[in-house]
Amino acid sequence: MHESVALSMTAGDFDHSGLPAKVAALFGDEQRAALIALRRDLHQHPELAFAESRTSAVLEQALVMADPVSVQRVARTGLVARIRGRDRSAPVVAVRGDIDALPIQEATGLPFSSRNEGVMHACGHDVHAAWAIGAAYLLAARPATGDVLVVLQPAEEIGEGAAAVLQSGALDGVAAIFGAHVDRRFLVGQVVAQAGPLAAAADTFKITLTGRGAHGARPHESVDPVLGAALLIASLQGIVSRRVNPSVPAVLTVATMQAGSASNVIPEIATIGGTLRTIDPATRALLANEMRRVAHGIAVAHDLTAEVLIDLGPPPIVNPEQETAWARQAAAGLLGIDAVVPLGITNMAGEDFAYYMASIPGAFLRIGAREPGGEATPAHTPRFFAADGSLFIGAAVLAETARLASATLASA
Ligand code: NI
Repeated sequence: MHESVALSMTAGDFDHSGLPAKVAALFGDEQRAALIALRRDLHQHPELAFAESRTSAVLEQALVMADPVSVQRVARTGLVARIRGRDRSAPVVAVRGDIDALPIQEATGLPFSSRNEGVMHACGHDVHAAWAIGAAYLLAARPATGDVLVVLQPAEEIGEGAAAVLQSGALDGVAAIFGAHVDRRFLVGQVVAQAGPLAAAADTFKITLTGRGAHGARPHESVDPVLGAALLIASLQGIVSRRVNPSVPAVLTVATMQAGSASNVIPEIATIGGTLRTIDPATRALLANEMRRVAHGIAVAHDLTAEVLIDLGPPPIVNPEQETAWARQAAAGLLGIDAVVPLGITNMAGEDFAYYMASIPGAFLRIGAREPGGEATPAHTPRFFAADGSLFIGAAVLAETARLASATLASA
């Protein structure tokens, strides 16, 4: 058990008036203030992947108000709470909020800015955690047909948390799972709930070129991996531009390069690393195969050897029709059909919710998080934050989606 942790923030100056009426009406004044204070507290105390111990202690305390049947610790710093349904034998559905932060120094200037040097909720998971708690409150007040599991998942940013939660067995037998992400491209009150691709496969690669070191003044005695790496980086750019059908989204980014340590020494080894993003299995395989072929080709041409390691990350999220329809219906019922907006782009970011969807039917949404007049600041940057109001939208839409899914599955 955790020691009790006092929240450091109050709801302060949160202005409730901008919330859509149907959503505002779902929460009592006290609950609204508690959720805002929770969110701001989490924002002020961000913790990195698998180090979210204070975060999960705070969340565990916040769950008490939802009177859960049980709260299970999973995946080191995660929690799964079971909220009672009206029919305990009906199929169980789940809603998930991720809880981890990023190694970024915050520059939002918010009064509840991070107190942890170099760590920041720059992806809005503070709001995701708070809306999962909000959904628990709503489902406690008006239960779904069957039990609902509220999953507070650690370590999304390193792509390991969802797999760890699944491995715990806590979600065995779950009939459907729903999750969402804040998005400042959309205003608070707007929701993306559409079938099709919502996030990309996010694979990482590392290529090691090995040659023969020599004095920098005698290059003919070397087999130079630095030249090889430079040519390889340039050649890899030909894969997406020349091998992938231009109508199919794909990204190959070389993000790291390491070689050498002195200006007069040709090193033995050069390594490059980066990320591959795709939304379909064929292109995902093509990028990996072409990368191996080009790396070995460059290596042969320059007398080097190449070792190519490709680490498969989360698969893409491709929302199915049926489960997405429940989410769309929930959002439209709460916010009006005009609030349900198209994504409008292909999102090439990865999201480890995809691991759940590989074995559990489900859908993933985007929840508008920009205040009126605000900028569309991208996530993973020092000035990113989600507007407070987005937490109530996320909580309400996820709770209502769970109810619709639960009712439909129970009657099937
Ligand atoms: Ni995120």
